[in-house]
Amino acid sequence: MPDMSDHRPATLIPGGAVFPHRHLTGIEGLQPHEIMFLLDEAERWIMPNAEHAAPDKRLAGLTQINAFFENSTRTLLSFEIAGKRLGADVVNMHAAQSSVKKGETLIDTAMTLNAMRADVIVIRHMSSGAVRLIADKVDCPVLNAGDGRHEHPTQALLDALTIRRRRGAIAHQRVVICGDLLHSRVARSNILALTALAAEVRVCAPTTLMPPAIERMGVTAFTDFDAALDGADVVMMLRLQTERMSGGYVPSPREYRLRYGLTPERLARAKPDALVMHPGPMNRGIEIDSSVADHAERSAITEQVAMGVAVRMACLDVLTRRARGVEGWA
Ligand code: CP
Repeated sequence: MPDMSDHRPATLIPGGAVFPHRHLTGIEGLQPHEIMFLLDEAERWIMPNAEHAAPDKRLAGLTQINAFFENSTRTLLSFEIAGKRLGADVVNMHAAQSSVKKGETLIDTAMTLNAMRADVIVIRHMSSGAVRLIADKVDCPVLNAGDGRHEHPTQALLDALTIRRRRGAIAHQRVVICGDLLHSRVARSNILALTALAAEVRVCAPTTLMPPAIERMGVTAFTDFDAALDGADVVMMLRLQTERMSGGYVPSPREYRLRYGLTPERLARAKPDALVMHPGPMNRGIEIDSSVADHAERSAITEQVAMGVAVRMACLDVLTRRARGVEGWA
């Protein structure tokens, strides 16, 4: 793995370092230089996090509400850790314990969160578009932690950061995204981010799990995984999202693994130093074999999790700058 510890890119938003967006509801709508700006801001947090550096409590006195209407391990924990590392008062609201269970509407939940005077709200919701709806109703910045099949922007940012650090660049990297593309917000946000940053993106899925006209997003579509893997720099695997499926989209998990599982033999079709990624949670033995997922040199899966904390620290910092009256890093 290349040593990127001294990697200090200096991308600035033209005309200053101000991120012009109030919310982060998706990658869609971000300019390539704005995506790079967020990646550069995240770079600043990697070493302090790795070295347990003295805390930087720039969000002290701010309240961060993590409102999760759908299950999460990685995203919820890393937003919580990110907020606490920056000194915010972090409050987690889980749908199972909320009044949503008693029939409260999304609008009423949004109005309630707003009345609590949160300084930043992080939302995961099972419905596409729900985060935008809430963002339009509240007075503080809102970050999308995953909404239905729509977007998962911080996942795409942490994936892009991992690729940039491990491969040295994003532009011209051949990235293969394979799995349940039809139900995947991770795939959608990654396609938007990676194509904006000039990667060559190939997507691969059975026809039943391939969104119609996906080529319009600037990708090349494959149903043959072996062909898609030819010369790949990065292989990103997705799980079958059975919680969003109605009916059977694949004949059986065993059949799916035979055609779309990332095995050591199949990985050999990619470049010899190709990177293996997975947003998690993984279904070992279905879309990815354990020997590939745990490969010391090739797998970046645990690094993705570490990059997630840095990316979320950067997003919380950048989106609260206006409220804190700061324009840049300080
Ligand atoms: N990658 C991801 O979103 O994982 P969680 O569902 O555990 O948050």
